[in-house]
Amino acid sequence: MNLGGKTIVLCVTGGIAAYKAADLTSKLRGAGAQVRVLMTESATQFITPMTFEVLSGYRAVVDTFDRNFSWEVEHVSLAKAADVFVIAPATANIIAKAAHGIADDMVSTTLLATRAPVVIAPAMNTGMYDNPVTGQNLETLRGRGVHMVEPACGRLACGDTGRGKLADTNEILHAIEQALTVQDLADLSLLVTAGPTQEALDPVRFLSNHSSGKMGYAIAARAALRGAKVTLVSGPTALATPAGVTRVDITSAREMFDAVVSRADRQDIIIKAAAVGDYRPETEAQDKLKKSNDEMNIALTRNPDILAELGRKKRPGQLLCGFAMETQNLLQNAADKLRRKNCDMLVANSLREAGAGFQHDTNAATLLFADGRQETVPLMQKEELADCILDRLLVLRESVQ
Ligand code: PMT
Repeated sequence: MNLGGKTIVLCVTGGIAAYKAADLTSKLRGAGAQVRVLMTESATQFITPMTFEVLSGYRAVVDTFDRNFSWEVEHVSLAKAADVFVIAPATANIIAKAAHGIADDMVSTTLLATRAPVVIAPAMNTGMYDNPVTGQNLETLRGRGVHMVEPACGRLACGDTGRGKLADTNEILHAIEQALTVQDLADLSLLVTAGPTQEALDPVRFLSNHSSGKMGYAIAARAALRGAKVTLVSGPTALATPAGVTRVDITSAREMFDAVVSRADRQDIIIKAAAVGDYRPETEAQDKLKKSNDEMNIALTRNPDILAELGRKKRPGQLLCGFAMETQNLLQNAADKLRRKNCDMLVANSLREAGAGFQHDTNAATLLFADGRQETVPLMQKEELADCILDRLLVLRESVQ
């Protein structure tokens, strides 16, 4: 996550989860943001302003009438400086004030004055959260476009178990990033495949490839940030599920076939970045194969071609984007795959290009389109290439609608 050049105004209100805002401050600053912390008086009962001053590098502001300030009206200058205005944790009290426009302390006055997108992460006792009054207030704020980070369920500090725990820091970070991102994929359903498949030979061994999943996960993460409803069908990888993404784990090509084909109809866009095994061992031994002094030959059989099946079943208006990984005749082979598999777009990358393909954080590609156009994209971060692929698919979508 890169928040360089962004100012985040983080408001901490009075609940036991206030201490978790320290981690949030530290992660925001680590991502390059300037973090300006505001606290309610009651928040200072749970954590001191000094904690936030050390972590943010700025004075934490508590009282509207503090005389020890620079010559700007602080609640107005911070309201204007904010790229995103975050309240985490948000108590039932600040939520009620926000819903009704009450401005009686530094947090509520600055909130009323800001025009920045607002992210609210509620945290409170279950009874307070479930109270219809709080529900109505949250609904009012949602209706005004506030990004709400739903609280988690679990054991609360008061001893009750239920909904009301402050959401995980990564979820709050995702909501902040989303608030800063144009939601140009909102209302679209997108399925991405990523990673390798593993084709079992026996309970111990399998055939696979070097895919790390980074390319497919980058596409899923960027699409979710841009507002799409994303399903990620993933082979075995060491990567964390990107925030806001529904992940379906598979191991073999046949499992990937079932997971993808059964969901295909509901998707507006399908992007196949996975490195799928073309072959599997003809038989999978029930027990570990023992070595002998003889040579061993393994008979292989073809796996189903998922992309080709999707191309056959593609419904009108749906977009299909394949990948091609080659070591020779990249563009010729890619153009052939695009046509045979009825893709709208194909991303061709070469193992021979430094920094491209398997495992790297970067990739370079040529984008091929069904109308014969080609566009070469230089080496860049996989997240940037992901955005580039999504941008081109959005343009194609406008032309097929
Ligand atoms: O995961 P990373 O380490 O980040 O590496 C990224 C990547 C190199 C894996 C990725 O950029 C990439 O190129 N993915 C496709 C790799 C591949 O399998 O290419 P292919 O040319 O063999 O397959 C062509 C297309 O058909 C692919 O979209 C593939 O998903 C699909 N396919 C292939 C075989 C099969 N049985 N079913 C399929 O759907």
